[in-house]
Amino acid sequence: AAALSNGPAGADIASPSSLRQPFVIGVSGGTASGKTTVCDMIIQQLHDHRVVLVNQDSFYRGLTAEESASAQDYNFDHPDAFDTEQLLECMGQLKRALPVNVPIYDFKNHRRCSERFRKVNASDVIILEGILVFHDQRVRNLMDMKIFVDTDADIRLARRIRRDTVERGRDVSSVLDQCGRFVKPAFDDFVLPSKKYADVIIPRGGDNHVAIDLIVQHIRTKLGMHDLCKVFRNVFVVQSTFQI
Ligand code: ADP
Ligand code: C5P
Repeated sequence: AAALSNGPAGADIASPSSLRQPFVIGVSGGTASGKTTVCDMIIQQLHDHRVVLVNQDSFYRGLTAEESASAQDYNFDHPDAFDTEQLLECMGQLKRALPVNVPIYDFKNHRRCSERFRKVNASDVIILEGILVFHDQRVRNLMDMKIFVDTDADIRLARRIRRDTVERGRDVSSVLDQCGRFVKPAFDDFVLPSKKYADVIIPRGGDNHVAIDLIVQHIRTKLGMHDLCKVFRNVFVVQSTFQI
């Protein structure tokens, strides 16, 4: 046993979490580009694996009473609108195969539901989705694969107006005003420049079934290789044990 914990194989055995490191996928793109839709399609196709979705939106900082009173002047598209330290902490836990409580964000009131959390358990695949998940290098470094969902700006604006008026308690005029003042400038300054970090760019989002099938195939290959590595490691350990 002493020999095992000293050797290279022993180092892996001493840390069971290293055998279970999940595959992390980052999905970015402009607002209403279809990020969530693409993630849902990937998750559906990977139904035989444990996959969890983490939304960057869950890590929006709650507004103070003063900020809330003039929420129309708040820039929700700037990187500082997110609590990235907390996001990193949460992703670190999940990477170590530990369960976490993810905050639930209320878009109507611009704040976190203080009493409620979503419990996310350890999984084979973690998908991290959000407009700015490629912005911070530390967040990017967590990812094994980066996908950028690329949908035309006019289509995104049309979808955003419909979604925000139906689901997020806004009126058309406030959506148009916010998009002109904050969403579009921040897309140009922060989201679009982060596209260069993507491994895969999906034009047309959820309509692009071919791209999604190819991505799922790649993830399956990676997960298969991961399982194979585990088998080889175990064989190596058994052999070492006999040699001792
Ligand atoms: P994101 O996560 O990038 O904000 P979503 O996937 O939530 O985007 O999509 C934004 C809105 O657009 C949602 O209301 C969704 O139903 C709609 N939507 C997404 N993809 C399509 C599509 N391919 N065709 C039509 N509507 C779509
Ligand atoms: O789902 P989606 O990627 O579109 O979410 C990000 C968008 O949510 C940002 O463009 C931001 O303007 C918007 N947002 C908002 N109100 C909040 C928080 C975010 O309109 N309270």
